[in-house]
Amino acid sequence: MSPEITARAPSDSCLLGHCRRVAAVAQCIAYQMFVAAPVKVSVESAALLHHSPVETLPHLIDGAALVPALLRAFHHAANAPKHLRRLAEIIHIANRFDELYELRATEPRSPAEIVAELRRLAEENSWSMGPVKAIEKVARGTDIEVFAKSPLPVFPQAALRVLQVRDRPESAAGQTGRITAAVFRPLFSLPSMRSLLQHGMEAAELAHHLAARAPAIDREEAFLCGLLHDIGKLLIGRLNLFDSATMRGLLDHGCPPVYAENFLMGCDHGKAGGDIAASWRLPARYVEAIRCHHQPEGIDSPLAHLLYLVEWRLGHLEDMPSAHRVGMCLRSTGVTEHSLETWHNGRTPLAMTA
Ligand SMILES: [Fe+2]
Ligand SMILES: [Fe+2]
Repeated sequence: MSPEITARAPSDSCLLGHCRRVAAVAQCIAYQMFVAAPVKVSVESAALLHHSPVETLPHLIDGAALVPALLRAFHHAANAPKHLRRLAEIIHIANRFDELYELRATEPRSPAEIVAELRRLAEENSWSMGPVKAIEKVARGTDIEVFAKSPLPVFPQAALRVLQVRDRPESAAGQTGRITAAVFRPLFSLPSMRSLLQHGMEAAELAHHLAARAPAIDREEAFLCGLLHDIGKLLIGRLNLFDSATMRGLLDHGCPPVYAENFLMGCDHGKAGGDIAASWRLPARYVEAIRCHHQPEGIDSPLAHLLYLVEWRLGHLEDMPSAHRVGMCLRSTGVTEHSLETWHNGRTPLAMTA
């Protein structure tokens, strides 16, 4: 995409985020529909600018002459030639997909319901079904079977002893935590997983700290679930080369990881992590908390809600921020904004695992 195009993208960060995600999804749809490479770039550019006034675009932009015409077809389909209308429909479907995703916190929909909604929109407007089928095909084509086929990570037996002593009253994260982190460390042995271990340690510390302010949550359980909350990323890392490249492309184009996972697989790493925890026969409340840590509205579990707050406070930007979800989780756990804001991790997480 030319610098001339990106310079015309919205400056408001929320709107820019939306436009970038729509552009990424539109590009994936165009790819699935075998749109020619240069046209695909124009579709992506027009999607990025679909909230920018068409009048501000010059009639001809070097190498992107199609973009203004595509945007006019997007806004005023009735006057546009059929081939431009068809391309503009890709942007409409990508746009609606993003809008439905943004509504998930207050109006949850399953992947099948999202597709049904997109299909309805296309039918109402007499659009081609090509873009909707392309979205279905992306999810269907993604190698999610890898989750079921390949062996799940093996539960470290040494962790059993840690789980048995976790009931010790008020043990500090620095004591039980150090042992817990050490026994789970082999799971993160690949160099690419080092940052996941570091994030898990930081999450464990924060979960342990916040649980002291949450009457319904055991501190050691919070620590363990904090450490393992993103364990599902071990499975996401096993996607085949093509799916990994698509995932990387979505991330590079501004889609948060949970958004990209849902677009590609119809679920997120929380679901994958819940599957691992279930295979380890961890207590159901751990499994559900890990499974739903990015969809707290889907479960009545203070532990899951605590994990959501932990992700949010650590600012890892794994998903789009949601004030609705933060408010709900604060109320459910009893944690205050003050205790979230004043938390400071004085220790280096990796030092704890050494
Ligand atoms: Fe996560
Ligand atoms: Fe996380």
